[in-house]
Amino acid sequence: MVKKILVIHGPNLNLLGEREPGVYGNLTIDDLNSNIIDRAMEQGLECEIFQSNHEGAIIDKLHAARKTFDGVILNAGAYTHYSYAIRDAIAAIKIPVIEVHISNVFARDGFRSNSVIVPVCKGSISGFGFGSYYLAVQALSEL
Ligand code: DQA
Repeated sequence: MVKKILVIHGPNLNLLGEREPGVYGNLTIDDLNSNIIDRAMEQGLECEIFQSNHEGAIIDKLHAARKTFDGVILNAGAYTHYSYAIRDAIAAIKIPVIEVHISNVFARDGFRSNSVIVPVCKGSISGFGFGSYYLAVQALSEL
């Protein structure tokens, strides 16, 4: 059976390309999404992509994913650092969730070094630009 993966982009990632290009680059979320879909296809995976700026919408999507997807790639944006609600949603579902970040969160402001979600994620990939997502696609394909 073909593995299905879900990619969730959290808050402010809709503004990729415009937002702090020195940190996040000049490419847009559409560029990123088409690259993710290409990588997933290369690995023989089906892929859906979702973006929201709202904590509750991300939680609803995680809950819904538990029945229909085999794994999730989650860039929770700033929610990473303080959303216990997203952490609990990840803990509540059995499918693997991989935390990703475009930037190296350990090399930036102090508050970004703390992830409240990583203890309930399968693993975390940070600092490889858009490559963080591609590495996560590879990791899910091998799980
Ligand atoms: C981010 C890092 C977070 O600290 C930040 O709040 C983001 C993006 C990243 O992809 O590097 O919105 O998750």
